[in-house]
Amino acid sequence: MSGDAILEIRDLKVSFRVRRAGRKYQVQAVDGASLSLAEGEVLGIVGESGCGKTTVGRSIVGLVQPDSGAISFRGGEMIGAGGTKLREMRLNVRMVFQDPYASLNPRRTIGDAVAEAGDINGFFKSRAERSAAISATLTAVGLDPSFAARYPYELSGGQRQRVGIARAILPTPSIVIADEPVSALDVSVQAQVLNLMMDLREELRLSMLFISHDLGVIGQISSRVAVMYMGRIVEQAATRAVLDQPLHPYTRALVAAIPKPDPTKRILGAIETGEPPSLFKRPPGCAYAARCPLASDRCLVDVPQLRPAGTDGRAVACHNV
Ligand SMILES: Nc1ncnc2c1ncn2[C@@H]1O[C@H](COP(=O)(O)OP(=O)(O)OP(=O)(O)O)[C@@H](O)[C@H]1O
Ligand SMILES: [Mg+2]
Repeated sequence: MSGDAILEIRDLKVSFRVRRAGRKYQVQAVDGASLSLAEGEVLGIVGESGCGKTTVGRSIVGLVQPDSGAISFRGGEMIGAGGTKLREMRLNVRMVFQDPYASLNPRRTIGDAVAEAGDINGFFKSRAERSAAISATLTAVGLDPSFAARYPYELSGGQRQRVGIARAILPTPSIVIADEPVSALDVSVQAQVLNLMMDLREELRLSMLFISHDLGVIGQISSRVAVMYMGRIVEQAATRAVLDQPLHPYTRALVAAIPKPDPTKRILGAIETGEPPSLFKRPPGCAYAARCPLASDRCLVDVPQLRPAGTDGRAVACHNV
């Protein structure tokens, strides 16, 4: 993939063991996902609920253990790394979580929450430096420094997510993985928080993976997009190309399902006509075949690999486009 990638994921597989009605099953949450994030870009990851977006993000920051694959940060492999090298990479790749209510410990002050990564890594030289850093970071996310002494229950959803962002930028990382950072928020504050993230991205020169199930939101903020379906990336391209000329049948369905200003003009895509197969028992061929208008016999047996399609680093995993 691209030579200037700051983060590269190759063939990532993650499974979970779960119990259902007394029996053990394996859920293949991520099934061979590959993507690359270029220095300074915002790459959107889009796909419907349960396709594995959060699991990819959690794998990158080390919160889940992948079964196999590679995740490299500036050319250094993260899976299996340890010691100072891993610590340094972890500080450079941070995550803003999907649910601002669940992601803050109710018993810790906001100041402690914001300083956590720095505390764990011995980043602050003195108490004075630590409080100055907390104040500056709270100010950077639009909160008064006095919030440092408060507790999460005293905060609104929007304020909590500002804290969630503050936690991810002290000390300043190179990459932020934003996992649906505004979807749990009231519509009235969604735009404010999104704007804050975009301002910080510019000021701090962050590269960003922006996870969302909403191609409309991704279209506003990311220059490239990776489309995920059942644990795999099925298309990756410039956002404009994806919106104007989606290639993969699943991407076409997603684009068609973007709400249009005039509801009578809304096209119902294939995505609304079927359910994805169970993650417990994946089909042998293309996971989208059962819902796909283009599916041929080959699609039922042969998993399509992501391959270059046209210029601009575009790639698609489909036998029929
Ligand atoms: N810790 C876990 N234990 C068991 N199963 C899990 C765990 N985490 C995720 N899964 C399963 O893995 C699959 C992918 O989940 P994931 O949260 O990554 O999806 P997602 O794309 O982020 O969905 P959403 O848009 O709803 O946030 C789902 O079937 C989910 O139930
Ligand atoms: Mg998720």
